[in-house]
Amino acid sequence: MSGPAAGGTAARGGAPGGDVPLLQARGLTRNFRVRASRARPGGGLVRAVQDVTVALPRAAIIAIVGESGSGKSTLVKLLARLIRPTSGTLLLDGAPLPRSSRGRREFARQVQLVLQDPFSSLNPVHDVRYHLARPLRIHRLARTRPELDRAADGLLERVALTPPGQFRGKYPHELSGGQRQRVAIARALAVRPRVLLADEPVSMLDVSVRLGVLNLLADLRERDGLAIVYVTHDIASARYLADAICVMYAGRMVESGPAAVVTDAPAHPYTQLLIGAAPDPDRPAAARLTPGDAATGPAIPAGGCPFRPRCPHAMRVCADAVPALADLGGGHASACWLHADGLSAAERSALGRGERAAGLAPGRRAARPRREAR
Ligand SMILES: Nc1ncnc2c1ncn2[C@@H]1O[C@H](COP(=O)(O)OP(=O)(O)OP(=O)(O)O)[C@@H](O)[C@H]1O
Ligand code: SF4
Ligand SMILES: [Mg+2]
Repeated sequence: MSGPAAGGTAARGGAPGGDVPLLQARGLTRNFRVRASRARPGGGLVRAVQDVTVALPRAAIIAIVGESGSGKSTLVKLLARLIRPTSGTLLLDGAPLPRSSRGRREFARQVQLVLQDPFSSLNPVHDVRYHLARPLRIHRLARTRPELDRAADGLLERVALTPPGQFRGKYPHELSGGQRQRVAIARALAVRPRVLLADEPVSMLDVSVRLGVLNLLADLRERDGLAIVYVTHDIASARYLADAICVMYAGRMVESGPAAVVTDAPAHPYTQLLIGAAPDPDRPAAARLTPGDAATGPAIPAGGCPFRPRCPHAMRVCADAVPALADLGGGHASACWLHADGLSAAERSALGRGERAAGLAPGRRAARPRREAR
């Protein structure tokens, strides 16, 4: 799903240091072949990420929001170059990535990943000092014991684990969840990255310490100019932290734009449902996501808009073709036929309940070629 570069215009003040985004994905697609199972008797293809285009400016924070299975982690792994795309390209500073092992190592240094579960991402048999010293040694940023200790202390101070001497010798089980995640972030910072990919970094933490870790990420952007991709289920925390929000559904990016615009005036029916489902004390009669609807799997019909079985506005055209991201102005874009002009009355007619879930609406022979929504 190509379209306006999410975050490119939405990040605060644009992209410091020029218009070329720091990290850019163009038309990223990743399919997985899976064996036969009860849910998929013939096996088949999981379309985890479909045609996603996104741009991360320098010192910007972009949030990737979506339900479980919408492709967020797969997108992050593609951005981290941990898995290969089925198609599409990644650019760093506007240039294609080198394939040499040296180029790969340098990319891995510049683009660091922080995972959801700090307990499993830290080795229980090693102390904090070991976790911080290892990347410093591998990337030859410090060698002698005093150099390593100095660098480790500096990292602990940057993530507010102070005084550092109190934390250096501790093992993961001796730390709280929030402290473990701070150590994981410090380890990522050890190699002086330019991009941090944070895949649900606070979802396993106690609610009381989440805000502290989110504020730490905001601080790293402010102080060090780090660009951050923040993955979350929680659109409220995305609004709090990010400049721009990209909403994913069934592997596709369905809406993107400045965080305040996407949350205050969501254009896509799925984003509207997500916001309606978020707890809000000022909105007692909040809409709820339909229980039992998975974001991917058999509930996702093969052709047309993947959201149509759950969409209160589904029209005949929605069963025919995938809507492209339409530019709504101001860096805001949404992939929905509701934004398209020039549809016929037949195309705009409501889709029946049974037709929504079908691969193709009855009476139609084949999906039309994809159309640009304008
Ligand atoms: N290695 C794999 N092999 C087969 N299918 C996979 C693989 N990795 C991911 N998938 C499938 O791709 C889809 C997207 O998965 P992904 O983990 O990216 O979703 P997610 O949005 O991160 O979900 P969650 O919020 O639960 O972490 C899912 O249907 C998942 O089962
Ligand atoms: S394209 Fe159709 S089914 Fe999809 S979100 Fe828009 S109105 Fe709903
Ligand atoms: Mg995930």
